Amino acid sequence: MDTVYSVVGLGKLGASMAAAIASRGFRVIGVDINRRAVEAVNAGQAPVQETGLEELIAANQKRLRATLDHHEAVLNSDVTFVVVPTPSDERGAFSLQYAAWAFRKIGYALKEKKGYHLVVLTSTVLPGSTRYGLLPILEKESGKRCGVDFGLCYSPEFIALGSVIRDFLNPDFTLIGEYDEKSGSLLESTYARILENNAPCYRMSFENAELAKIAVNTFVTMKITFANMLADLCERIPGGNIDAVTQALGADQRIGPKYLKGSLGYGGPCFPRDNIALSFFARAVDTAAELAETTDRINRALPAKIVEQLKPFFHKGATVAVLGLAYKPFSHVVEESQGIYLAKTLADIGFRVVGYDPLAAEPARIELRDQAVVLDSLEECLNQAEVVIIATPDPVFRRLTLADLQDRNVETVVDCWRILEKELKGHSIRYITIGQNINDEESQARLIKLWGNTDANSDT
Ligand SMILES: NC(=O)c1ccc[n+]([C@@H]2O[C@H](COP(=O)([O-])OP(=O)(O)OC[C@H]3O[C@@H](n4cnc5c(N)ncnc54)[C@H](O)[C@@H]3O)[C@@H](O)[C@H]2O)c1
Repeated sequence: MDTVYSVVGLGKLGASMAAAIASRGFRVIGVDINRRAVEAVNAGQAPVQETGLEELIAANQKRLRATLDHHEAVLNSDVTFVVVPTPSDERGAFSLQYAAWAFRKIGYALKEKKGYHLVVLTSTVLPGSTRYGLLPILEKESGKRCGVDFGLCYSPEFIALGSVIRDFLNPDFTLIGEYDEKSGSLLESTYARILENNAPCYRMSFENAELAKIAVNTFVTMKITFANMLADLCERIPGGNIDAVTQALGADQRIGPKYLKGSLGYGGPCFPRDNIALSFFARAVDTAAELAETTDRINRALPAKIVEQLKPFFHKGATVAVLGLAYKPFSHVVEESQGIYLAKTLADIGFRVVGYDPLAAEPARIELRDQAVVLDSLEECLNQAEVVIIATPDPVFRRLTLADLQDRNVETVVDCWRILEKELKGHSIRYITIGQNINDEESQARLIKLWGNTDANSDT
């Protein structure tokens, strides 16, 4: 008999995992405490918005079903993935509240289970959580022993919202924190059967895997922030151009070109909280994760810093349009979005702000409330604007033309991602970017002051 999988938590990650595993020919039982999520899956619909999810669930209905009953799901499956929320608590740590509840339910079912069962924690947690926070719950509720009656792994995913299914089935690598050899081997062979690619598998202790997971995210944010620092420097040197600098930098194989754009900061539900959690953990174990703390501080300060730099270019009382309110293109998520922060900062200092996003209008409206008017059409947004800020590199904004802006009242375009350079540079509209010098004369004067009397210095 083929292995049957259960997936506890049918949210953005769990529902996609359940559908993806079913699409590889396995029977999957999804579990959620939210009746609507369960009913959606059983009706062949996606419980959350994610690229390709609805189609995949509909196409695999005969292998995928969902239930509110953890007990039944555990008894009727061989491997259980736990993909419940681990929200940040007031200390900045990842809370185990939901995971603990799920583990209690699973442990209780394991009590009755005949034969070996593998539990895999997928949710992001901090080092020590699996062994010292959750494993004891399974043993207590089941009255059984880990490593004897059941196995346990911590195996997080490295996916991006919008491409969860593709990323899950084609990862760069899989990461397994294992209680013992048997648990790890079982999960490794599970991945070998499920995944579409031949991703290498890294197996280690729970704690090393827990640290590796958060290290990946915090490293990427550090890289983004490093490029943003270079962009700031480029704005202050004559002819400065971040794209020229990062092209060379990214060609170095030790560095690589990804996440090296030089633009606005990072946002979304994962990246920002990971630096805070790592900083919390470091303090909790009597040290300091200063790089993570600094990355977070710089990223949070960026929207206000950018507005401060841009302010002199906007006339008093101007209407500013922020294009791109989700934290990235093709997303409806506005959590920690730079576009939202820019809009709020501009509103706070007295500008009238309008906004547009192809997918995120509704959540953006809730987030911005009385601070900005979120419009349903790009045209309407441009009609009202004297200043346009492009906050995400969405294809819809890439297609804007000089005429689109010139025919209206737009005086200034701030292109944070330099996507309209060919179209707008050197024309009547003032075109400002992040990462390119906007005042060569002033920058030259600074450098002349710094280096111009080198000869005189060498005489003394
Ligand atoms: N979304 C991402 O991009 C992403 C990426 C990597 C890791 N993660 C991690 O994966 C975990 C889940 O994230 P998500 O974005 O899918 O969360 P989500 O909030 O979208 O979904 C979680 C689901 O779990 C359900 N749930 C809560 N408690 C439950 C319980 N005891 N039993 C059954 N179902 C329960 C909720 O009803 C919800 O449907 C988190 O730890 C997150 O950090 C998420």
